Amino acid sequence: LLRELMLFDEVDSTNTELLSLMEEGRGHGVALLSERQSAGRGRRGRQWVSPYGAGISLSIGWEFNGGVQCLEGLSLAVGVAIARALERFSVPDVRLKWPNDVWCRGRKLSGVLLELKGDLTDRCAVVIGIGLNSGLRSEIATAIDQPWADLQQVKPGISRNRLVAAILTELLPLLYSYTEQGFVAYREAWMKLDQFAGQKVTLQAGSQTWSGVAVGVSEKGALKLNMDGQVQHFHGGEISLRGQ
Ligand code: BTN
Repeated sequence: LLRELMLFDEVDSTNTELLSLMEEGRGHGVALLSERQSAGRGRRGRQWVSPYGAGISLSIGWEFNGGVQCLEGLSLAVGVAIARALERFSVPDVRLKWPNDVWCRGRKLSGVLLELKGDLTDRCAVVIGIGLNSGLRSEIATAIDQPWADLQQVKPGISRNRLVAAILTELLPLLYSYTEQGFVAYREAWMKLDQFAGQKVTLQAGSQTWSGVAVGVSEKGALKLNMDGQVQHFHGGEISLRGQ
């Protein structure tokens, strides 16, 4: 269950705040929200634009039994929870992009950043950071380096508070069942929402690129790419995916 809900007007990053609570052993089951982040973080060292009142900046702390390797599919499963929460409000055209973006009408609406703390061999303390655009003004958003979507443009009038409640309602049972079963229980749901299923895509990690047809994800959450008839598995980390 959720143990505590912490609300802030401004923090540097909700993930940073919660990571320090995890370090003190006080973060498990805590959800932390801020109206603004002065140093919001995205994946791969990017910044995450989070001006006052223009989105959701939410972090949840959770401790898992088992090593870090069992967390590979977690960010994908979290994407499923966000998509289900959006579907409760009938937000149209919600899709997932591997490994952990939520897209709407072909643009990024929400992203997930998992960060780990502590002993990674048999117990994992994870901070799940969720960012979602809602009410972002385009002049502020010039720092965003990819096509973005905004909830208020796609479907105006949805309360951020209600959406956060829906996300937490979807996420908490998922965290329990993920501990028991891993990503397997969410794989089918993820594949149904796959933005790039059956499409040609390019993966990039540093200066290396791979092209092929996206053919879903494995039971662990690895991306499956058909490259000239051979299916290869790619694991998250520093890889990014682009459609063509
Ligand atoms: C990404 O798509 O690159 C991940 C974006 C994650 C942003 C969220 S906002 C709440 C939490 N705090 C952060 O500093 N980052 C995550």
